[in-house]
Amino acid sequence: MNTHCEDISDAAFRGISSLLYDTAGIQLSEHKKTMMVTRLRKRLLHLGLDSFDGYLSYLRGGNKDELQVMLDLMSTNETYFFREAEHFNVLAKELRSQPGKHWRIWCAALSSGEEAYTIGMLAQDILGTDRWSLVGTDISSRMVSKARRAIYPEAMLEKVPEYYRKHFCLCGRGEYSGYFTFIPEIRAAVDCRLMNLTKPLAGIGPFDIVFIRNVLIYFDQPTKEAVIGRILPLVAKDGLVITGHSESLFGISPHLQTIQPSVYRYSPQARTAQV
Ligand SMILES: C[S@@+](CC[C@H](N)C(=O)[O-])C[C@H]1O[C@@H](n2cnc3c(N)ncnc32)[C@H](O)[C@@H]1O
Repeated sequence: MNTHCEDISDAAFRGISSLLYDTAGIQLSEHKKTMMVTRLRKRLLHLGLDSFDGYLSYLRGGNKDELQVMLDLMSTNETYFFREAEHFNVLAKELRSQPGKHWRIWCAALSSGEEAYTIGMLAQDILGTDRWSLVGTDISSRMVSKARRAIYPEAMLEKVPEYYRKHFCLCGRGEYSGYFTFIPEIRAAVDCRLMNLTKPLAGIGPFDIVFIRNVLIYFDQPTKEAVIGRILPLVAKDGLVITGHSESLFGISPHLQTIQPSVYRYSPQARTAQV
């Protein structure tokens, strides 16, 4: 099989897209055909299937494990340490406003963990041990495993400022040579879990700060509203909600006050005027 998008029928593309949407809320436009072929091609070969129509039937056969594999392959997991760095200035300012309290933070689309450990390094620096905890969640089991493992190639340290490298990162030796991880205090405070934001969110919260960055872009407006509607009851009064720079919660809830673009404060009692 080659990788041309002609290899996938319209029916198979629509069928797989609609499973992806129904399961994860992820919307794929027609021009993502090539992406689907590229991401799923190896899986078809692995299963010995010679067409995407066959793969769709296999998925529709009620195979839940395969649905998870498909989600893992189709989700976009791009992330890196200190991504959209301005948000970490906001985080630092917020944590410094009450250094004595125990801060509960949620990283709601964790990917492979770089965002969670960036937050962890800042929180550990400002608050110290046992003054913060972080729950990281993602729909991709492959990503959650990577985040739990917390071992990254040393080349990724390029994005980590020298101060944080020196104080919070540990370079590996022997079989881990060329890799790094984080000090045990940070690793112990980060709890990574599998969670789908488009389904009921049970067993977590409340949180003082929620990072929901660079995932809302994959959702249509009704899904985005439903996801935020599920997240807000898990946010403490006056908690912060931070989205990706290209995402907006404008008009989604009267209880979210825009502090600056992509940073919102949740005031459940207040109705904020959105201008
Ligand atoms: C582009 S990454 C963003 C990672 C990180 N937040 C950042 O900004 O660097 C998007 C992540 O959202 C996850 N995701 C997509 N749909 C999801 C859903 N319905 N529930 C939970 N996570 C989801 C994907 O698996 C992926 O890891």
